[in-house]
Amino acid sequence: MADNVAIEHAVKLLRQGRLVAFPTETVYGLGADASNPEAVRRIFAAKGRPVDHPLIVHIPNIASLNDWAQTVPESAQKLVARFWPGPLAIILNKKPQVPLEVTGGQQTVGLRMPDHPVALRLLEAFGGGIAAPSANRFCRISPTLASHVAEELGDAVDLILDGGACPVGVESTIVDLSGDRPALLRPGQISRSEIEAVLQTELLTFAPASVRTSGMMEVHYAPVTTAVLCPSERLLEANRQLTAQNKKIGIMAYRQWPENLNTAFICMPGHADDYAQALYASLRKLDGRQLDIILVEQPPDTEAWRAINDRLGKATIDYREFFTLI
Ligand code: TXA
Ligand code: MG
Repeated sequence: MADNVAIEHAVKLLRQGRLVAFPTETVYGLGADASNPEAVRRIFAAKGRPVDHPLIVHIPNIASLNDWAQTVPESAQKLVARFWPGPLAIILNKKPQVPLEVTGGQQTVGLRMPDHPVALRLLEAFGGGIAAPSANRFCRISPTLASHVAEELGDAVDLILDGGACPVGVESTIVDLSGDRPALLRPGQISRSEIEAVLQTELLTFAPASVRTSGMMEVHYAPVTTAVLCPSERLLEANRQLTAQNKKIGIMAYRQWPENLNTAFICMPGHADDYAQALYASLRKLDGRQLDIILVEQPPDTEAWRAINDRLGKATIDYREFFTLI
């Protein structure tokens, strides 16, 4: 776990405009001083991310909202009072001085106070906002361990603060509060209905057509190996068919299956929160095993599994599509 010396070193690097990866409760972030446009540009270069994809600014406390947001509407005050620190990012209209490099050229800014001791110590010691996307290459699997960040980014990052495994495992819920009506841009552990209950109103859903949020793109969070999302009742048949073609198969299931499946097999937890926590590390593990195909057993279609199904939908192709191709 990162100690005070490491935090001080990280703060020094951030002040010099360098990049520091740090743990949050969701995934590891690739951080830079959000008030320094040159430092922020380094994030895009390190990730290979298009410069018009906005970043989330991480802040040490609720009061800091006023440093970044032009106004903090009542809806935002209610949500952060209930969910911060925690896995919720909100989009608000930005103050004029917020660099356009951070916001991808938009007049809005994403803000979040993470619930992780290392992230909070870093933010407090730094005393400003830290712009941080997930610390992975663009469109790849988000890191949930410090070693994942090293694998993804290598020398492109100046320091990695180790905080162990991220407890939530999928990225924050994003709610856009910059317009007339609140909208859910990305599902996460904090569910739509929890947010609607606090706001006492229904959330709009944006169509992926207007890609302002890279997490809304069709392909994202993806392994290099072809991954296929497969309903439970098709899993064994699909495995048999592919094995007959001498394909090397990996399976990520969430239920118990016969032990004698001749494959790289990961049995995922049956509870949604535990599944989410293990999701990216498991995909990454199978992705590293030189397989031809990863079959992912489709989890239940209920609200508790919404963020997981969203990420799996982007990491995989549908089995019907796949089996018409082979
Ligand atoms: O859980 C998380 O949010 C993690 C950790 C590190 O905090 N961060 C994360 O960052 O997932 P990133 O960049 O991988 O995803 C942030 C998403 C992007 O899809 C981005 O487009 C969206 O937030 N976003 C940021 N600012 C925005 C804005 N002003 N308008 C619309 N979308 C915005
Ligand atoms: Mg990301």
